[in-house]
Amino acid sequence: VDHLLGIKNLSTEDINLIFQTADQFKEVINRPIRKVPSLRDITIANLFFENSTRTRLSFELAEKRLSADTVNFSASSSSVSKGETLIDTVNNILSMKVDMVVMRHPNPGAAVFLSQNVDSTIVNAGDGAHEHPTQALLDAFSMREKHNDLKGKKVVIVGDILHSRVALSNIFCLQKLGAEVRVCGPTTLIPKYIHTLGVEVSHNLQESLEWCDVANMLRVQHERQDIKYFPSVREYTQQFGLTLPMLDSLKKDITIMHPGPINRGVEITSEVADSDYSIILNQVENGVAIRMAVLYLLASKKKMNFKG
Ligand code: CP
Repeated sequence: VDHLLGIKNLSTEDINLIFQTADQFKEVINRPIRKVPSLRDITIANLFFENSTRTRLSFELAEKRLSADTVNFSASSSSVSKGETLIDTVNNILSMKVDMVVMRHPNPGAAVFLSQNVDSTIVNAGDGAHEHPTQALLDAFSMREKHNDLKGKKVVIVGDILHSRVALSNIFCLQKLGAEVRVCGPTTLIPKYIHTLGVEVSHNLQESLEWCDVANMLRVQHERQDIKYFPSVREYTQQFGLTLPMLDSLKKDITIMHPGPINRGVEITSEVADSDYSIILNQVENGVAIRMAVLYLLASKKKMNFKG
């Protein structure tokens, strides 16, 4: 069984195949009739053990556009609250003749664990601070739309790198596509292992903005940390908050991204989020085409190293 568990073990060819397939699906979903019959006999369960707006709706829309049958499961309203295990939960759902499982889970490694313990295709929709592969794919796809080839492009990922699955998957994906990657944030929010990933580290936002073609601004993930520790929200915004005057003073074409949800006025002002520098809503739009491509390629069992 093939899975999409992360970007780490995908090849550059796999990523480019996903992009080429997503290019075609993007055309499809911009037509008056947005639906194709590709997954008509496939049933997909979307299992969300952690909150989500974009990823959950984007997967569901991608499945519907592909004509798959879908069932949605949210842990908070399920028998997980009565003590049912992850494996039991998923095996019960699979016994209802479900073909693929999309799962978001708060624990890093949960998607890998599930793939080793149940007989189904697993798509990781974000597992703790580990990976968020479809987010990285839609991010790189959106950068490619704006900048064409990502080879040699300079991308800075700003913010809470320590708690971010988006950062890790983006680093893997961008490096495989030939981009130079830097992370920027306070020392307390940058993991010690970062140097092993071949990325530069900066603690200076202004200098990083001067260096980069693209800045991907991350949210400080208060739900994964104790905010009594440095930096406080105010300190963070003073040192790493992105404002419109900072961008205007650069006098260059710089692209601003954010995976969402945004904390307006913390890591990015509303003026920046809603400006022409921002491709934030393009990212969300592209998420549907990317997820259609991933589901289609997995369901049609194209031979790829999707073990991720
Ligand atoms: N980008 C992202 O994963 O957003 P959600 O948590 O709303 O799915």
